[in-house]
Amino acid sequence: MKKILVTGGCGYIGSHTIADLIENGYAVISIDNNSRSHAGILDGVKKITGQRVKNYPIDLCNYADTYAVFQENTDIAGIIHFAAYKAVGESVANPLLYFENNIVSLVNILKCAKAFGVAHFVFSSSCTVYGNPAHIPVTETTPLQPAASPYGSTKQMGERMVDETVKGGGLQAILLRYFNPVGAHPSNEIGEMPVGKPANLVPAITQTAIGKLGTLEVHGNDYATRDGSCLRDYIHVCDIAHAHTLSLNYLMAQKNQYACEVFNLGSGNGYTVLEVIAAFEKESGASLNYRTGPRRAGDVEAIYANNDKAVQALGWTIRYGLSDMMRTAWQWECRLKTDENLFNRQDAGLN
Ligand code: WQD
Repeated sequence: MKKILVTGGCGYIGSHTIADLIENGYAVISIDNNSRSHAGILDGVKKITGQRVKNYPIDLCNYADTYAVFQENTDIAGIIHFAAYKAVGESVANPLLYFENNIVSLVNILKCAKAFGVAHFVFSSSCTVYGNPAHIPVTETTPLQPAASPYGSTKQMGERMVDETVKGGGLQAILLRYFNPVGAHPSNEIGEMPVGKPANLVPAITQTAIGKLGTLEVHGNDYATRDGSCLRDYIHVCDIAHAHTLSLNYLMAQKNQYACEVFNLGSGNGYTVLEVIAAFEKESGASLNYRTGPRRAGDVEAIYANNDKAVQALGWTIRYGLSDMMRTAWQWECRLKTDENLFNRQDAGLN
């Protein structure tokens, strides 16, 4: 079995991707310092796959510690690099924290990939690189506007760093631009575990519905959309996860035409905030307590993906719709409430 290193393997998309990789015949190791995650999530991965994944709890900003992992695993065939901070609001408040963590860790992992001759690299990018697009849906050739936040800047820089690094030869790479990952694994053994008050819409919805939060605030209702609330492309986290497995398969089969290729990972459908709330209420049977408030700084009015390239080149098919996203997100939130000791959340300061 080919061994894949997943950085950020204890995170939301990382853990779901590890489960998909194992189910598709890969061996996996993880690097995650658990600063924004909990190693216990890999217990859930074991329940799904039967495999105990080894996690190296080191800081990727420490080159020596990162290098040591590669010395211990000289058979790494590919890397999927998730590890990064990703809270848009926090990045505005503390830009240097984001530049240091997201850029230095990427430099170190790329240096190790080159030093150890790793041939395949998948980079976790984001639709935030498009900024406020002039036209939607966006394709991979849609011109990038200035990033709306330091977080988005680190993803724009990261894409450029990977692209320039592969020009030196040896390494082949894919950049995956996620739209809005939501939902949880259908087994209900793993899901999203926000640290502190969730900034993202769907965990904010489910935590409001379960009673952990009082009222959901809809950030703005005066946008030029169907109902005045922002429009986004929500995509099930398992569909996102499987696209990573398909990306590695694509690189290992040498199907790529260029050393670095980029793909949009969105459903191709746009939904407004109010439409997501309505879908959640329909799936959960819960009546959500929400009110409309002011716009949120840095928010893009509307964006959704043209995903034709990923569908055609990677053979990617979207398996989950909005109702599945809402149902699995709600099931997971209910599990977190009933299973208080799940992954010993209180140890990690996770809510
Ligand atoms: C969606 C919509 C909010 C919370 C995220 C990640 C970013 C990137 C892209 C990966 C917006 C509104 C939210 C709330 C609300 N992902 N909202 N009330 O901003 O599109 O970006 O996906 O790279 O890292 O942050 O997602 O879920 O924060 O917001 O009205 O309590 O929901 O204003 O319109 P966003 P989000």
